[in-house]
Amino acid sequence: MSGRALSFGGVAEAYERFRPGYPVELFEMVIAYAGRPVPTALEIGAGTGKATRLFAQRGIAVTATDPDGSMLAELRKHVPVDVATVRAAFEDLRPGERYALVYAAAALHWTDPEGRWPRIAALLEPGGVFASFGAPFRLTDPAVQEAVHAARAPFLESDEIPSPDGTPPDHEMQWPGSELQRSESFTDVRQAVIERHVTMSARDYIGHLSTISAYLVLPASVREQVFSRIRQVLPDTVEMTADITVHLARRRQED
Ligand SMILES: C[S@@+](CC[C@H](N)C(=O)[O-])C[C@H]1O[C@@H](n2cnc3c(N)ncnc32)[C@H](O)[C@@H]1O
Repeated sequence: MSGRALSFGGVAEAYERFRPGYPVELFEMVIAYAGRPVPTALEIGAGTGKATRLFAQRGIAVTATDPDGSMLAELRKHVPVDVATVRAAFEDLRPGERYALVYAAAALHWTDPEGRWPRIAALLEPGGVFASFGAPFRLTDPAVQEAVHAARAPFLESDEIPSPDGTPPDHEMQWPGSELQRSESFTDVRQAVIERHVTMSARDYIGHLSTISAYLVLPASVREQVFSRIRQVLPDTVEMTADITVHLARRRQED
């Protein structure tokens, strides 16, 4: 696993404070897609439990997994007591119990592509649902976007994660839907977007950046310099889109 994949634990409390949670519409979308009861779920890369709460507070018995002990320690403060936690990377999860739902929130891109889909299929009941979702923040005002880009450029070209399978941004089906469509284990692949608009203070925006892996892997002194330069070009209030892109798929009935 890369240092970037495991960079979050050092800022677990800030992660919990500055990253937004997930809305009930997302829960409803997954349940409507399932079209049958969803009593159990396994979460890959649960972090501080933002998506764990969404499902666990609505009656699903969630097993939250993550390789980072600091993230799981923060998660325990915020999720119902009956949530089971397992400290493990996705690659180290062994098939055993099968779940009605397996999902990953802003985490699947950190997992090893080798054997990814057979491994997920082995954790799902036949007909069970896989869901992956993420919501990168994008500054709404092009002038602010440009100024932030220029402030960051000497240190960091981009703070986003490139598409793991190289799907161009203008393709209708984005990753991981693109990979799911090629996988023999899954069918009925869908992509949907839940639109979100977020407004935060410049200070909280910097707080949010302080939880993003591209900055976390910079040397501390460089990171502080980038944040200070970005802070100088921000308005007092920062407007962003944080649309949630959701991918859904169903494990085929046959093994
Ligand atoms: C951006 S955070 C997302 C956390 C949480 N799911 C959320 O939406 O807030 C990514 C999480 O993936 C975890 N992670 C990194 N590599 C992983 C792997 N190989 N298998 C499972 N989780 C991994 C990290 O420890 C981190 O908690």
